[in-house]
Amino acid sequence: MKATDRDINRRTTINPAFNAVARDEFAAMIDADRYLDRSGQFENIISRTNEHFWDPEDADYVDYQQAAPKDVPLIPYGQVPERHSAIWDTLDEGQRIRFADETLRFRLSGVLHGEQGALSLSTGLADMFLDPGAQEYATNQAREESRHVHAFALYMKSRFQSEIAPPSPTLDRVLKDLVASDIIYEKIIGMQMIIEGLAMGIFAGFYQEANDPLLRRVAQLVMTDEAFHHNFGQLWAAENVPGVSGELRDQLEDFSREMFQDVLMNLVGADQKILLYQRCGIDPDFAIGAMNEVMTDEVRRDFMREETNIFRTLVKTLWTAGLITERTRGFYQRWVDMDEIAGEGTWTVGQDIAEEGIEDLKKINETKRRIVKKA
Ligand SMILES: [Fe+2]
Ligand SMILES: [Fe+2]
Repeated sequence: MKATDRDINRRTTINPAFNAVARDEFAAMIDADRYLDRSGQFENIISRTNEHFWDPEDADYVDYQQAAPKDVPLIPYGQVPERHSAIWDTLDEGQRIRFADETLRFRLSGVLHGEQGALSLSTGLADMFLDPGAQEYATNQAREESRHVHAFALYMKSRFQSEIAPPSPTLDRVLKDLVASDIIYEKIIGMQMIIEGLAMGIFAGFYQEANDPLLRRVAQLVMTDEAFHHNFGQLWAAENVPGVSGELRDQLEDFSREMFQDVLMNLVGADQKILLYQRCGIDPDFAIGAMNEVMTDEVRRDFMREETNIFRTLVKTLWTAGLITERTRGFYQRWVDMDEIAGEGTWTVGQDIAEEGIEDLKKINETKRRIVKKA
């Protein structure tokens, strides 16, 4: 690890429960004094992992054999930004259904790469955190991310003949940078707060609106895990961000803004979707032009309001974490009404969906335990 990265980690870690070393400093892990130096901060999240156990291979949790809906797209047109543009006028009903399904195929391919990114990033965190509780949290997260990789891979197999698209250029760059980074704040703001926050929004949208019951179920189950990962990010922010001072604080805020811009463009930027347009027989230059035409500031804001509040949620998360101040407020104002955000109480998207899913899982897991006991 570079000396500057080490210094940044030291200066942005206010609560010692988040102390970290370099990934290859195993010697620090077998220091005899470390094992009992455990913070109680993570015990609640850790002890709840069994409550939301699920297994993508077990039809009691999720049945991948169920039929796909007929004559409707897997996701509603409301989740397809192109419907606002001239692209839509060139498509007949059958082509619109195919475009919506292909949009989902590309979006879920991105989700799958994101899940792998989260898995690789959390094993990195487990190598870096010194606190045994923080390590146990990170390894649990890695275990859950590998479950998500499994679940979405099975979905791609079931609905898209296993055709998984490569990551968009932006997603490719962002995931590689975050996984490789030795800076704790980049890893946590980038993954647990922004990407996981975005994922919660996307999954909530699938759960509430998808036409495919299989997608709704997978989204709900994944959310029972993701809610905790996103909470961990918020806990890190609450315990550390307010204590960071000076230039470094600005650095955290700028990094958040850049990440927000990247994930936003990855999801709605027409230049990131060339493969999708080509696959659907739409000229990419025409598509990019048509999308740029409709993406005025006004439309953007309306659009953000409609899209199950995915980006609104992210802005809210960053605002609550103290990662948006007057310095960057203007940037976010282009996308969401910041007065509205600032005036609301705290809320987390998808928390209620996750809790409902956990109640369901507790019941299923209870019957499984009984069967084991009888045998
Ligand atoms: Fe995940
Ligand atoms: Fe996650």
